[in-house]
Order: sequence, then structure tokens, then C-alpha cells
Amino acid sequence: MSTPKEKVHLTAAQETLLITLYAKAVACPEVLFSDPKGKEIIAQIEYDFEQLKVPTGTRLTVCMRAKQIDGYVRAFLAEHPNAIVLHLGCGLDTRFSRVDNGEMDWYDLDLPDVIELKRKFFTESERYHLIASSVTDLAWLEQISPQGRPVMVIAEGLFMYLHEADVKALLHRFKADFPGCHLVFDAFSELTASKVSANPSLKKTGAVIHWGIDDPLEIETWEAGIHLQEEWFFTQSEDIPKLGLGNRLMFKLTGLFMLAKRAHRLLYYILD
Ligand SMILES: C[S@@+](CC[C@H](N)C(=O)[O-])C[C@H]1O[C@@H](n2cnc3c(N)ncnc32)[C@H](O)[C@@H]1O
Repeated sequence: MSTPKEKVHLTAAQETLLITLYAKAVACPEVLFSDPKGKEIIAQIEYDFEQLKVPTGTRLTVCMRAKQIDGYVRAFLAEHPNAIVLHLGCGLDTRFSRVDNGEMDWYDLDLPDVIELKRKFFTESERYHLIASSVTDLAWLEQISPQGRPVMVIAEGLFMYLHEADVKALLHRFKADFPGCHLVFDAFSELTASKVSANPSLKKTGAVIHWGIDDPLEIETWEAGIHLQEEWFFTQSEDIPKLGLGNRLMFKLTGLFMLAKRAHRLLYYILD
């Protein structure tokens, strides 16, 4: 007898995690990204992923984003093997198993309903922790005690759902609580933030976007000690040559205009 599948009961902003899970595990060309644990999870969830109608561009950028962030985490862990990594708005992402070096401590944080669902597929251990909280309720930070260990914070597909004041408050606390921490997140431009709700998959979930930023140096002016390390554009992906002609042309065209490159990109800061 087969095991009954998990039914999901998620709100709009939470349901977006199914878009990214699906993109990484199933909808992406294998040459770009491979997520076997994500595939296993999808097979156990009762949900019609096809009806999300995830556009090709979204599938590709979700996978490129995940691959680039995996690379940042691996590089950080190569330098700081006993680091602490905070993965905010983790959804059902399987990054811990993709990058685990056997030494670091990892915290996956998401809203309580999502963590309840995540517990069905992931087990906490001495080094793998789950935090059920809104990222904006800053009390969760009290659960992290780095005691001098280096910290990396990742927020993948999260900050655009927050208000700017919440993003500012988070950066302020990261700087105060984890001096020298590395922070990686993806950000929309202001134009994308105002228009992206028309994306068919997002529309399907009903999620609302609140925040976008044009110039990443503006974040340095929020507070002393915030240093931009990199603004990474999807047009820089080493995987573009592996794509079909249409997609290669789309990225080539995007690469010609700063406005288009900044529509959605990764930002990497050090806070000290
Ligand atoms: C687009 S999904 C990204 C999931 C995952 N990072 C990935 O890339 O697969 C957005 C995630 O942010 C989470 N989220 C939205 N608002 C949040 C909040 N205030 N606190 C914590 N998580 C939040 C949602 O529940 C969801 O899991």
C-alpha cells in the first residue's frame, strides 16, 4: 500500500516556496541544477505543481540563483569550516544537504506553518536546526549564540516580501549581533517590485511584493559598516552557454541594459 501524500495548507507568501522547490527539483534542465532530495519531497506532496505555470525565465533564474548561493556558501565554509549559517525564508529548500561540510551549524528559519511542513521531510540534529518564526519578529535572534564563530546569513527569495523598514531592522541586528557576518540575498529593482505581481505563478499564489532597490550602494548609507562585496547578475551565469538559442539570446539582450540586469540580482555584503 502506498503512503498517503502530504496535503499542503499554506498562505500566499508561503506557497511561493512551491514555485522554487518545483523549479529546482523538476523544472530545471539537469545541466543547470540537480536537487534529488527536492524531487523526493515533490513526490510526497499532494499538489498540482503544473498549475503554477512557472515561466521558463523564472525556472532558469531560480536554479541559477540557487547554484550561485551554494557556491558562496561553499566558499565561505572553505575559509570558515566551523561557521554558523542562517538560512532565512528557507521554504523546503535542501541546501543544508547540498553544502554540508560535516562541521558547521545550520539554522533553517521560516514561518511556523512552513517549518511544520518541513519537519515531515527533514530531521533536526546537533548541527541542523529549524526555527519557526517570522523573520521580522526579532526574538528569534536570541536562539543564535555564535560565541566568536563566523556567521553567514542567506535570504533567497525572501526580502522582496518584506517592507524596507523590516529589512533595515534585520541588517541592523545582524551587524550588532554577528559583527563581520556575510549576508547574501536577492533583490528586485524598484520597477520589478512594482510590476512583478503580474508574473503568472506569483499571481496564482496571490503573494504580495513590498520591496525593491535600484542602487545596492544605497544600502551602505543605511548604517556605517555595511560593505557591498558583489552585485551578481544572472547574465554572468557560467551556465548560459548550455541553454538553447532562445534563452541565450534572452540573457544576451538583458545583459545590454543595466535596468534589465538589475531587475533581479544577487547582492553580497559584509557587515562589521
Ligand atoms: C519564494 S519562497 C523561497 C523559499 C526558499 N528560500 C527557496 O528559494 O526555495 C519565500 C519563502 O519566504 C518565506 N517567508 C515569507 N515571509 C516570511 C517571514 N516574514 N518570515 C519568514 N519567512 C517568510 C515563505 O514562507 C517562503 O518559504
